[in-house]
Amino acid sequence: MPSKRPRLLVTAGPTVEPIDPVRFLSNRSSGKMGYALAETAVANGCEVTLVSGPTCLAPPDGCRFIPVKTARDMRLAVLKAFPKTDVVIKAAAVADYRPVRPARHKIKKTADEFVIKLTRNPDILKELGMKKRPGQVLVGFAAETRSLLRHALEKMAAKNLDWIVANDVLKKGVGFESEENAATLIARDGARIKFPRQSKVKLAAALLKIILASLRG
Ligand code: PMT
Repeated sequence: MPSKRPRLLVTAGPTVEPIDPVRFLSNRSSGKMGYALAETAVANGCEVTLVSGPTCLAPPDGCRFIPVKTARDMRLAVLKAFPKTDVVIKAAAVADYRPVRPARHKIKKTADEFVIKLTRNPDILKELGMKKRPGQVLVGFAAETRSLLRHALEKMAAKNLDWIVANDVLKKGVGFESEENAATLIARDGARIKFPRQSKVKLAAALLKIILASLRG
């Protein structure tokens, strides 16, 4: 019986949350980390679905590419693909909040101060952690500026993850937008591997090698 190709679902890039038809809230994710994971997974013979917020990157060849904008769009796309997925790797920088009421027309600049009321977006990864079936592997990322490992371990427990990639996004030259990253991969049992600063492509290959090996048991 030929071994089934692992089916990977990768999320990448930012989400954009509208303020009015012209303005939005977003973040500095370029998509490079997620696209490197998707590209490497294709090269490793996986069946890859990439759900991506808006980036300046060309979708990697060989993967099913699903562009999205808001966190709620991303949630729908991810939940639709999830049942036919073996491994989810959530590298996207999903906005935790969105404006309560985006304006239907461009907000004119009148007052000196301008307050935007925000409301919580769905936590997609936490929802996947609740829906995960035996054998499915859930990999989250933790983007932190301090207490990196403590916050990463808290997220892993809270979201029922199998792995978490902890990366410090305050350090210069790594994290958001950069070509390089440094991270610690932590397994559910607490085992951890520290990856020093290197290209996101190299880091993606190293992360996938371990995660896919664990899938093969
Ligand atoms: O895209 P690049 O420029 O290459 O930068 C890479 C990166 C820094 C964006 C990437 O390495 C990274 O850290 N991605 C995760 C960013 C993030 O949102 O981390 P977080 O700690 O806020 O979220 C924790 C996890 O929950 C993430 O897997 C995230 O995808 C997920 N999440 C968060 C919020 C939300 N509403 N739903 C989610 O699923």
